[in-house]
Amino acid sequence: MQVLATIDAFRQARAAYGPLGFVPTMGYLHQGHLSLIARARRECGAVAVSIFVNPTQFGPREDFERYPRDLERDLALLAREQVDLVFVPSREEIYPEGFGTYVSIPAADEVLEGAARPGHFRGVATVVCKLLNIVQPTRAYFGQKDAQQSIVVRQLVRDLNIPTQIVVAPTVREPDGLAMSSRNSYLTPEERQAAPAIYRALCAAEQRYLAGERDGEALRQAVIAVLDAEPLLRPEYVSVADPLSLRELEQVGSHGALVSLAVRIGAVRLIDNLLLEPVTTA
Ligand code: PAJ
Repeated sequence: MQVLATIDAFRQARAAYGPLGFVPTMGYLHQGHLSLIARARRECGAVAVSIFVNPTQFGPREDFERYPRDLERDLALLAREQVDLVFVPSREEIYPEGFGTYVSIPAADEVLEGAARPGHFRGVATVVCKLLNIVQPTRAYFGQKDAQQSIVVRQLVRDLNIPTQIVVAPTVREPDGLAMSSRNSYLTPEERQAAPAIYRALCAAEQRYLAGERDGEALRQAVIAVLDAEPLLRPEYVSVADPLSLRELEQVGSHGALVSLAVRIGAVRLIDNLLLEPVTTA
């Protein structure tokens, strides 16, 4: 496994490989990240992973400074997964003096995470664009956990003609349903105990959907009822939206729906989602 900190060194090392699978991360790796890496390993000849806590996707009052970091542990996990190339650039390597080009996707800023976190997707799209240009992967792997991010990345690649195939893989959960996230490490034991209500709330909407409910507001209320029963959780938004446009739905139709939410537990902000698959009638 080669660990490279500069763009020049990474490019030189990358030149020795043909088709490459790529998993961009912000580190503090967990099974969610490792599932993407394992899939890349199965599907591609060689695998590259980046670890970079990207400052431009954090708002001024967000957790950039305290975002969890443990490079030594991350590198040990990546070596075990037989990753070929690891890119660990410094902030200056990615955003040198004079950096001034950003990729923005205004439509993404209007809904869900984009509306809640101004500038977030501009930061994500910019860094993903740069990483894809540096790494030049055949395929890049993203998690359904960050559903809107996956949609943003697909649009970025389509709009800017980036020759990488985007693969979106399922959310990996703890046994009690909590979606794995580097930010789960912020939770106190009490908050961690309360957190599985997030997934239970999403499942409540799914149950209603499978029982025939198609009214968007009724499905939203099914989520909110479960969240409200847990005093430590404060919902920020609950959405039942078209899975592609992310516009809120009055009625779930032939495309199914993405049920997604952001909640605060103490000082921690967590997101999760569940896809309601379209029901085909025979
Ligand atoms: P990070 O939060 O480290 O996540 C890296 C990748 O792992 C993303 O594609 C994310 O969706 C995926 N992931 C996170 N938790 C997951 C889970 N429980 N199951 C499956 N996949 C999961 O997302 C980012 O970093 C950054 O925004 C990045 C794309 C690296 C750009 O800076």
